Amino acid sequence: MSAGPLHPLEVLYLRQWRRQMAAGQREAARDSLLDALAQEPNLPRVHVALARMRWPGPDYQQWLAWFQAHLSPQVYLEIGVEYGDTLRLAGPGTLAIGVDPAPKGDPAARCSGPVRLYAQTSQAFFAAPPPDSGLPGRGFDLALSTATTASKPCWTTSSAPKPWPHRAPCCCCTTPCH
Ligand SMILES: C[S@@+](CC[C@H](N)C(=O)[O-])C[C@H]1O[C@@H](n2cnc3c(N)ncnc32)[C@H](O)[C@@H]1O
Repeated sequence: MSAGPLHPLEVLYLRQWRRQMAAGQREAARDSLLDALAQEPNLPRVHVALARMRWPGPDYQQWLAWFQAHLSPQVYLEIGVEYGDTLRLAGPGTLAIGVDPAPKGDPAARCSGPVRLYAQTSQAFFAAPPPDSGLPGRGFDLALSTATTASKPCWTTSSAPKPWPHRAPCCCCTTPCH
């Protein structure tokens, strides 16, 4: 995961958590994570460690890689690209279209296939889909939204696929759909 620089509390408490997990002290290990979050709620790696304790199994990136491998979409649409950690899971035969008003670094750099990036919000993108994205003519086969926004829905199931040909697309969301 790309969660920015490590916070000193993450270093301290995750070290303690690993030691406790290795010693089989699961409850104490979970309490360590909760202690860390009580001091500073914005510790992404601590949240991930806690979530993995609660819900073990493949994470969303592993599931997405599985979808990409099994569906081999021709067109993949991603809302919320950030560093490109999930965009890069698209295969070489897939056109990856990324939409993010504030992408970080060069999200296309690690992608193996063609990429089109639009530095705008999903709301603006869906309101007037850029013709050079190819979406108005053919739609998409797989989409992901991981956009984080407090005020507005990032993904509108009603507005997005409608103007485009129906291709029974598969959509995965970690954000609210409206
Ligand atoms: C959690 S990151 C995405 C991470 C990436 N998909 C991954 O899983 O590694 C969320 C991203 O959503 C973007 N975002 C926030 N509001 C958005 C919007 N309205 N439309 C598109 N992207 C948005 C932010 O700029 C941020 O880069």
